[in-house]
Amino acid sequence: MSTTPLIATGLRHAYGNRPALAGIDLRIEPGDFVVITGASGSGKSTLLHALAGVIVPDAGSVRFGDVSVSGASEEARSALRRTRFGVLFQFGQLVEELTAVENVALPLLLGGMPRRTAEARAGEWLGRVGVAEVAGQVPGELSGGQAQRVALARALVSEADILFADEPTGALDSLAAEAVMDLLSELNADLGATIVLVTHEPRVAAYGRTEVHLRDGRIDTLSSYGQDDVIAQALR
Ligand SMILES: Nc1ncnc2c1ncn2[C@@H]1O[C@H](COP(=O)(O)OP(=O)(O)OP(=O)(O)O)[C@@H](O)[C@H]1O
Ligand SMILES: [Mg+2]
Repeated sequence: MSTTPLIATGLRHAYGNRPALAGIDLRIEPGDFVVITGASGSGKSTLLHALAGVIVPDAGSVRFGDVSVSGASEEARSALRRTRFGVLFQFGQLVEELTAVENVALPLLLGGMPRRTAEARAGEWLGRVGVAEVAGQVPGELSGGQAQRVALARALVSEADILFADEPTGALDSLAAEAVMDLLSELNADLGATIVLVTHEPRVAAYGRTEVHLRDGRIDTLSSYGQDDVIAQALR
């Protein structure tokens, strides 16, 4: 488990002249389970991408210990995403030409792990997310829910310090969504992985200990829940 907080200061970002982030300050403690909520277009995905080093914000900084995420080169940011950060995007992003198990093994192969070891570990993660049987299939042969679980396994396979996930249950039915959320909770509780998750579903948001609610690219409310609050919120 990492003991390093992720610290964002003064984040601003626009697409052309459309502002998406309008000044965000946020500190994410190691081991926390953070949910980012807010209306469609409020900047959730943009914030997640800036925190994970997928995009470099127009202004402000993101720091992870002595690493400047926002100041790192493209190459250094992608290395960071293969090792310390796991990222699950809102829309699939599996490599169409590769089988499920090859997709999951990819971050390990890129990190220099031998193929056989990487694919064995990838196979284990497919099992943990409940889709071991699709290992040999390419993305075109998977259902939306299966593809999302394969993408989740790929985000988890490096056993990153922080998992960033954008609507990880969006394409899943409620039973499958619950299974994925239980898995993430387990990862958070047992391995101490920090989780930062975007969702618009209250049932999913209820798994979080910290809720960052965005409105027009700004933090509208920041709430922390103890375990009792989480249970009370889930029962509501
Ligand atoms: N690639 C892009 N090009 C242009 N504008 C964009 C792009 N991505 C996002 N935006 C705009 O930036 C703002 C924030 O978008 P963002 O995707 O971060 O919102 P969101 O909260 O994730 O929305 P959703 O819940 O619909 O996924 C919106 O006004 C959106 O239209
Ligand atoms: Mg989004």
